[in-house]
Amino acid sequence: MWVPQLSEFSQPMYLSIADALARDISNGVLSQGDRLPTLRELATTLKVTPGTISRAYSEAHRRGLVHGEVGRGTYVQSQAPSELPVSPVPTTLNLGQSQLLDLSIIKPYSETLEYWLRDALIGLAKSTDFARALDYAPDGGHPAHREAGAQFLRQWLPDAQWQQVVITAGAQHGLMVAMSALTNAGDLVLCEELCYPGIISLAHGLERRLGGVAMDDEGIIPEALRELCLREKPAMLVCVATCQNPTAAIMSQQRRAQIAALAEEFDFIILDDDIYGFLATDPSIKPLSAFAPERSVYLTSLSKSVMPALRIGYLYSPPKLLSRLTSMVRSSVWMPSPLTAQLASNVITEGLDKKLIRIQRNEAAARQAIAREIFAGFELKTQPYAYHVWLTLPEPWTSDEFTMLARANGVLVLSGTQFQAERSGMTRSVRLVLMSPTSQDELRFALTKLASLIDTDPRRFY
Ligand SMILES: Cc1ncc(COP(=O)(O)O)c(C=O)c1O
Repeated sequence: MWVPQLSEFSQPMYLSIADALARDISNGVLSQGDRLPTLRELATTLKVTPGTISRAYSEAHRRGLVHGEVGRGTYVQSQAPSELPVSPVPTTLNLGQSQLLDLSIIKPYSETLEYWLRDALIGLAKSTDFARALDYAPDGGHPAHREAGAQFLRQWLPDAQWQQVVITAGAQHGLMVAMSALTNAGDLVLCEELCYPGIISLAHGLERRLGGVAMDDEGIIPEALRELCLREKPAMLVCVATCQNPTAAIMSQQRRAQIAALAEEFDFIILDDDIYGFLATDPSIKPLSAFAPERSVYLTSLSKSVMPALRIGYLYSPPKLLSRLTSMVRSSVWMPSPLTAQLASNVITEGLDKKLIRIQRNEAAARQAIAREIFAGFELKTQPYAYHVWLTLPEPWTSDEFTMLARANGVLVLSGTQFQAERSGMTRSVRLVLMSPTSQDELRFALTKLASLIDTDPRRFY
């Protein structure tokens, strides 16, 4: 009889059983057509109720792992990841999107989200606050939603006051609001020389001149920033100081203080994009904006820690910049949906955000271990809890060439050239997201495939 090996992973029992089932199918422990134990048999063995097993089998059914009917048994039906379709001809680039293993989007691991958020949604509909969420909200958001935002932000900014919180429709919207409200067309905006592509497209869309600052293993190099400032005063520096996208660099406390001192000296605004702050290795290191609070706007969202679909983010602003930010929210979207702001607030006030952050950090650490094992000996930059890694390919690979061949082999990754703040030729690095595959097995399969691809000589495909 099949007995699942349940992990320590802190999630509902039924999901652990469904996960174990998926794992055993991909490991080959279970094969197509195998009959699973009855509800009662497995419930007795695992010392849980038959209802828990029934939920586990329903979940497995939903994922397409099993089929069956009540009373007639439950049977394995899934394909193991190793049977995923793979193009034998690497230069064939026409694989359908659905066949691709996607390691290109930074997002939280989603297996347990449905479980947690279904309850939050039902709670929202039943709550006495529901009516508030159905109407227009005042500038900046409903005070109660801003207070929930302040509660979320106090994990990193312990003194956060709700009056300084502005609700946005996610972090990308927060970037857009802050950049357009606090700088003008033609202004010089600086960022890391390798940066999140959303910053590049935004700066170009808003007709700001984007300049990339040289980086080392801690992110922006203060001397390089000073040199640029001596040539021309920037209006703003956009900086991702923790688990930087794409290099995963984390800036030390000392480096943050140096960057803040330069902002004072050269009179520019810091836009502190701390969307990955919850993945810090040393939580005692303060956010960059805390070193120059009067000239910094702090930015985060719930997209990476809770769920991207909420589209709720928070700006934390010094009082003197607040009205420019709230006006820009009004001009851009009038207000982020109060309904989802209410849901986000419930998630925060009920402590679900902290629970999900714990789950995501554990999952990220486990996936990092897989990446380190598979890429041992390669040049890999990452952090213990980061969702992604920055892999530098050996000669003679270029990142564009590798990205194309990976795609032809069914794995989607992003090439280093897409992160260049200023287009500056070819790179040899690629960003691999560890959290987007649906399971650790799927991740292992994708990374193993990439590692074996690296071992081939790209010139064979010319
Ligand atoms: C550094 C950085 N900032 C902002 C965003 C946008 O986040 P959101 O989904 O909340 O708009 C991302 C998304 O990947 C990001 O990596």
